[in-house]
Amino acid sequence: MRSLKEKRIILAITGSIAAYKAAFLTRLLIKSGAEVRVIMTPGSTRFIAPLTLSTLSKHKVFTEVIGEESWNNHVEMGLWADAMIVAPATANSIGKLANGLCDTIVAAVYLSARCPVFLAPAMDVDMWKHPAVQNNLSKLVAAGNRIVPVGRGELASGLVGEGRMAEPEEIVAFLAKFFAADQDLRNKKIVITAGPTHEPIDPVRFVGNRSSGKMGIAIAEAAHRRGAEVKLVLGPTSMDTDLVPVFKVRTAQEMFEETIRHFVDCDVAILAAAVADYRPEHVSNQKIKKKSNTLRLDLIKNPDIAAELGTRKKGEQVTIGFALETNDEEENAFGKLQKKNFDFIVLNSLKEEGAGFAHDTNKITILGKDGSKKSYPLKPKTEVAEDILDALVALQI
Ligand code: PMT
Repeated sequence: MRSLKEKRIILAITGSIAAYKAAFLTRLLIKSGAEVRVIMTPGSTRFIAPLTLSTLSKHKVFTEVIGEESWNNHVEMGLWADAMIVAPATANSIGKLANGLCDTIVAAVYLSARCPVFLAPAMDVDMWKHPAVQNNLSKLVAAGNRIVPVGRGELASGLVGEGRMAEPEEIVAFLAKFFAADQDLRNKKIVITAGPTHEPIDPVRFVGNRSSGKMGIAIAEAAHRRGAEVKLVLGPTSMDTDLVPVFKVRTAQEMFEETIRHFVDCDVAILAAAVADYRPEHVSNQKIKKKSNTLRLDLIKNPDIAAELGTRKKGEQVTIGFALETNDEEENAFGKLQKKNFDFIVLNSLKEEGAGFAHDTNKITILGKDGSKKSYPLKPKTEVAEDILDALVALQI
């Protein structure tokens, strides 16, 4: 089993029959080196006794924000932890956490936590599939939380399907994998492009696209956590991050200049931005008036950042591209890989539901220079980012 040595983990238990597994989970977390503090919703104490968990964790278990003789400091707990895992996470607790409600110690610590938060959902198959639950999960993923995949099988109700909480061994392995990736990009300098570009037509209009920047920001944050020194060149979007230095740009030309400037002393460039290939040849300095039935816009080619980096890269410098396709996906992506001299390319297709622009999820295939190909299932962009960085680490630069 991989190690969680010296990791400080808050185990938050909410009210599901799967709470009985929390005893095993506590033991396994401690066995793999973690220091564990347990918090519980009042509902969960009907499924497993706090005494069991305080005995196993060797620490007092908190079940209320305000205890009998004191105020239990949820802020301190939130700051103390290296990770918080909500297991089991019920439909009710998922709903509360997703919407910022705060009527239990679990919710109070969640809102105070600065560490990564993991949720291991547990519920019946129809509850699991319900759009209300899935929407709440999407909100939690969008807020940067990680979901431990549910299992399939016989459920407490007797129904068979998805919704079973992952086994304690799987939860510990999920956490250990997260921390094992720790620092494997230490000493690496990475420049990442993300978001759209806006090419002005006049003072109020532009040519743009629907990129949100989520994919590139997820990669930047994951690379930062894995020890890299990251610079993010970000096109115009409402998304942002305060984990890494962000260089905000508007047009393809500005993104080109900023990225080239940083690449000089970088080891890696990851080009996740959706850069406009063309821009209006003439930009009107006054708002264009609605005079005729048609309006002709002449467009000229923008510089290609990726292609330029491909010709400039020296020694062990690596460039990783994206390909956003709608047809002949692999063939087109492979063509871009070769033309832009990428070390590998991440293909995402607009034909796949939940992939590409603006979603919190993506479905990718990584194509290598050597003709290799690895396809991944639909996942939250935070996890897709880890897969891309795993592929980068595998290049052994
Ligand atoms: O931002 P999100 O909403 O999260 O969406 C993510 C995404 C769909 C934008 C992202 O996953 C993605 O696919 N980004 C690349 C989109 C794209 O423009 O692909 P392309 O096939 O047109 O370009 C190929 C590669 O060349 C890309 O790495 C692109 O960044 C790069 N490029 C393209 C044109 C240009 N002038 N300069 C470039 O660097």
